[in-house]
Amino acid sequence: MFSGKKVLLGVTGGIAAYKTTYLVRLLIKAGAEVRVVLSPAARDFVSPLSLATLSKNPVYWEYYDKDSENGLWHNHVELGLWADLMILAPLTANSMAKIAHGQSDNFLMAVYLSAKCPVFFAPAMDLDMYKHPATKANMESLQSFGHYLIPAESGELASGLEGKGRMAEPETIMAKIEAQLKENAPLNGKRILINAGPTYEPIDPVRFIGNRSSGKMGMALAEAAANYGASVHLVLGPSALDTQNPNIKVERVETTREMFEASRAAFEHADWAILSAAVSDYRPKETANQKIKKSGSSLSLDLVENPDILKHLGGMKTEEQVVVGFALETENAEANALKKLDTKNCDWIVLNQADDSARGFGHDTNEVLLIKRSGEKEKLELKPKKQLAYEILDRLLKHHSAK
Ligand code: CTP
Repeated sequence: MFSGKKVLLGVTGGIAAYKTTYLVRLLIKAGAEVRVVLSPAARDFVSPLSLATLSKNPVYWEYYDKDSENGLWHNHVELGLWADLMILAPLTANSMAKIAHGQSDNFLMAVYLSAKCPVFFAPAMDLDMYKHPATKANMESLQSFGHYLIPAESGELASGLEGKGRMAEPETIMAKIEAQLKENAPLNGKRILINAGPTYEPIDPVRFIGNRSSGKMGMALAEAAANYGASVHLVLGPSALDTQNPNIKVERVETTREMFEASRAAFEHADWAILSAAVSDYRPKETANQKIKKSGSSLSLDLVENPDILKHLGGMKTEEQVVVGFALETENAEANALKKLDTKNCDWIVLNQADDSARGFGHDTNEVLLIKRSGEKEKLELKPKKQLAYEILDRLLKHHSAK
């Protein structure tokens, strides 16, 4: 959940600020990119050097760098907009009150007001302050802004008193954020089968029939779906690509028949199937056990047709399942794609054209036409396959509610 996320940590001036060094460590270990902004008072409780070292980024608390010869200005808007996620921990009663009323008397508050991402806040203060109606009202204000409260815990407080007011432990903060992000993820709970890459059909132990597919589009779709919270089963033909995403189960196959078996089995447990693989339509009727030697004359290969995975899954899909096919065309593109949509019984077809420009096989970019069974069409202009993958999923989500 945190992998690759840009996390802005806002630390205000309470004793619990010392725990943020550990929170930064946990975030970095979970794969996040972290930037820390301190309120001026927070510097009395935690060292900017520790936080900078752990986050591997400069730590900010002022609008400009007074020590720098040219008085380098820190852009609060840029920093606020950079973040995918903001955590305010610990959030003191004073800073919470400022936030509740939109006050901006220090750099952290200006960054907060510029941020557009989800905000989590972990208050910390003495028990009577925590219980005070003014604090309660401010806490409710922050929640009414859509911010997520990570409640304070009970225990011994810096004042020596016992009660509710201790900042939640860093592990708890991580767990609460993770659970919330999961719940917010648009494909949370969905099981998605994706197949990708080429297939290889052996001629003999060293030769095969294959194609130039890299698997990039299918991998981009798998990663995007996983990042949207889906549990992805990726049936991957021979491709140099790999993924470490914990939401993706990769099953490697080589031939069409192996891909067919793996896809068919996974489809039984899938809500959606996105079949982007460039499947070999034919395979040699016989595979030679030994390397075929040249004979001085021509050689003919007898080819037989492979099973059509998409057509098979289209035929077995239930009312609830959604099947998306791809069409790769070099001529009469739209007419051919529509024919595939119909004969293979898909809900959607993603048409891409193989030519020598920046689209299709091997390239990092692609341009597609999305065609829905009902006839609706939408062109997604040339863009990186990684971005295109999210846009394709967004269109599917619009038509097939995920939850
Ligand atoms: N497909 C499949 N099994 C096959 C052939 C294709 O599942 N044996 C799927 C592809 O993964 C893709 C869609 O069918 O989602 C269309 O593939 P494409 O190669 O464009 O078309 P073909 O059906 O192979 O037809 P043709 O090669 O004649 O254009």
